[in-house]
Order: sequence, then C-alpha cells, then structure tokens
Amino acid sequence: MKKLESREDIEHLVNSFYAKVTKDETIGLFFTDIAKVEWNKHLPKMYAFWESILFGQMTYKGNPMGAHFPINEMQAMEQKHFDRWLELWKATIEENFAGENADIAIYKAENIARLMAFKMDLARRL
Ligand code: HEM
Repeated sequence: MKKLESREDIEHLVNSFYAKVTKDETIGLFFTDIAKVEWNKHLPKMYAFWESILFGQMTYKGNPMGAHFPINEMQAMEQKHFDRWLELWKATIEENFAGENADIAIYKAENIARLMAFKMDLARRL
C-alpha cells in the first residue's frame, strides 16, 4: 500500500473523504444543507490543514475549532456525528494509504475530534 507522502496524496485523501461524507446519512447534511459548503474554498483549506499537520508546511492559517461553533449552533454536533466522521476518515485512509503518516493522520484526527466533541458539547450547555 502507498505511503501518504505528498501534496497530491493529501488532495486525493481529502477529495475521497468528502466524496464519502457528502453521501453519508449521518453527517452529510452538515455539509450539504447546514453549512452549504463552498467546495472550491473548503477543499484547499483542508489540503493546507493536513499538509501543515503531516509535513509541517504551515500553509493552513485558520481556526479549526472556531469554524465549528456556528455550525454547532445551527445543528448540534454530537458524539455520534464525530464517531461517524472518524469512521469515514479512517476508512478512506486505510483504503488508500499505509505507513507512519497514515497512522499519524488517524491519530491526530482522533485527538482533534475528541477535543472538538467536548467543546461543542460544552458550548451547548452554556
Ligand atoms: C461531526 C464532525 C464534523 C463536522 C460535521 C464538520 C463540519 C464542518 C463544516 C460544515 C465546515 C465548514 C466548511 C465551510 O467553510 O463552509 C468545517 C470546516 C473545517 N473542519 Fe470540520 N467538521 C467535523 C469534524 C472535524 C474534525 C474532526 C476536524 C479535524 C480533524 C475538522 C477540521 C475542519 C477544518 C480544518 C475546517 C476549516 C476551518 C476553516 O475555515 O479554517 N472538522 N467542518
């Protein structure tokens, strides 16, 4: 299986992931109906985000946590949504890549998702 090692690999990973996400019964609606994502803007942000995490390129300049609060206000982002997000992320990686960066991409996503789920839950209680 291929290593996750180039910008092209990241673009392929992110594109394949969102192809699954937008068709998904559990989380697709967040992207298609709630946030009405502009893909030509969102996808380059996600390439930069993962490039920064995996290759230390620091091309992503944004606030990944902050972007989710307004979405959480429109539609609660709950544990089941994060579980599904992670399931699709892992499946997409495992279908395409193996090796250290593939493992790191899963591990980092799990940690960010855990923190994000906690923050979204807290925000709904305030
Ligand atoms: C239930 C889980 C999640 C849902 C439904 C969700 C949904 C969204 C949506 C709708 C956007 C906004 C797209 C736009 O700009 O129109 C977004 C942005 C983003 N998401 Fe998520 N997300 C989830 C989990 C995650 C996780 C776990 C990560 C990181 C591992 C992540 C990373 C990002 C990043 C980096 C952005 C771009 C923020 C920016 O504007 O700079 N998301 N997400």
